[in-house]
Amino acid sequence: MAGNKEKTFLWGAASAAYQVEGAWQADGKGLSNWDVYTNLYRVTEPGTGRQQTGNVAINAYDRAQYLSDIQLMRELGLGGYRFSLAWSRILPEGTGRVNAAGLDHYSRFVDDLLEAGLAPMVTLFHWDMPQALEDRGGWSSRDSVGWFRDYAAIVRERLADRVESFITFNEPFIDLFLIEPMVEIARGGFGDPGAITDAQWGRQALPMHHWMLASAETIGDFRAAGYKGEVGLALPLMPTLPEREGAPEDVAAAGLADAVINRWCLDAMFKGRYPDEVMAEFSRRDPQFAAVEADFPILAANRPDFLGVNFYAPAFVRHAAEAPLDFRWGAYNPDPKPQAFNGPVKPEYLKLLLERIRDDYGNPPVYITENGAGFGDSDERFERGLVLDPLRADYISRHIEAALAARAGGVDLRGYMVWSLFDNFEWMQGYDRRFGIIHVDFETQKRTRKQSFETYREIIAKGV
Ligand code: FCB
Repeated sequence: MAGNKEKTFLWGAASAAYQVEGAWQADGKGLSNWDVYTNLYRVTEPGTGRQQTGNVAINAYDRAQYLSDIQLMRELGLGGYRFSLAWSRILPEGTGRVNAAGLDHYSRFVDDLLEAGLAPMVTLFHWDMPQALEDRGGWSSRDSVGWFRDYAAIVRERLADRVESFITFNEPFIDLFLIEPMVEIARGGFGDPGAITDAQWGRQALPMHHWMLASAETIGDFRAAGYKGEVGLALPLMPTLPEREGAPEDVAAAGLADAVINRWCLDAMFKGRYPDEVMAEFSRRDPQFAAVEADFPILAANRPDFLGVNFYAPAFVRHAAEAPLDFRWGAYNPDPKPQAFNGPVKPEYLKLLLERIRDDYGNPPVYITENGAGFGDSDERFERGLVLDPLRADYISRHIEAALAARAGGVDLRGYMVWSLFDNFEWMQGYDRRFGIIHVDFETQKRTRKQSFETYREIIAKGV
């Protein structure tokens, strides 16, 4: 990024608007679906039943706050910062009237990052949809493609002169197939991800297509407008492994899980089509889905400039005849120590994943756009002005090592972004799942560096 793409490896950190900004009603912002989920439907934290919202989050909308946060980024030695825009700040109703104050905020933030020597990487959509659009059918409506393109064009016109890297969407699969059904379930008063039904899987297939189509069309729009920077997508990639090695039904289940979780979007991005298994499984659940093939030429014509890899853990998959799609995943962890929130700690699978992308998808430019971990309170204790988090520090350094080994093997890896710089609002789980390399006291907004901050700082200082 920042001019000399080939030479500079980008060390960064990633965040998302709803998880950090707060200021949910400031400066003319409209409501997003997450404002509504957390404030009105009372999405509660599983287990404790406590209500948590992103109304204040870690106060990152506040300029005095973020300027001091940028100082911490500089101390860490970051070269870039990945963040998302809240669509409802820019277009309070999702379409139509532009809220100048919202756009000005992001423009100023970009200037402040650049002034500090940090390259901004802007995610256009990281899950917070204007509620006004949700009310018009959200991503189920094909109109969503046009809504998104219009929003993206407004952002492009204002920021593209200074932002060299855009991500259209963050993690289609997780938002549509896990979070949305979980919110739906939580609105009914409980929140068991295992309870996602076959009908819910079927309902999300068209929205998934609308994201991929909106992304492709937007990439085309950026190119047609003469944009010189790079545009990509960030996918949640997880190698799927048969839970019982050698059991043919688990091997088949892992294959289908791979098609749905990983190859659906990877094939869309780099092969311009969806896997046959996806077409078969989802056309069966939603007959309208079969017609999406007509849009494949649009996907094929607008290949992204890079792939963003969000990697946390591999997924172990088991055949389960009673489950939707006949598989279960995520419940099994062969090495539960240490028990990370997002699954087994297995950095070697990051290397394998990157090599697979190199071999199966024509070695596209890749950024690791998210990688990190949380282990709960047992991994976090204050000592002499620092928070000791040895498990996170170890997780980060081993994953970076694995990523750099893949790079040495020819993977076109351009950068690494830790998730996350700060503890923040972790969607369905609220504030109890800390992922930051900087501790945040959510009452006082005080920031305290963790051991993992020092580890990452040393890695960056050493360089690649
Ligand atoms: C990813 C999300 C990100 C954060 C991390 C922990 O799936 O993209 O917003 O919640 O998980």
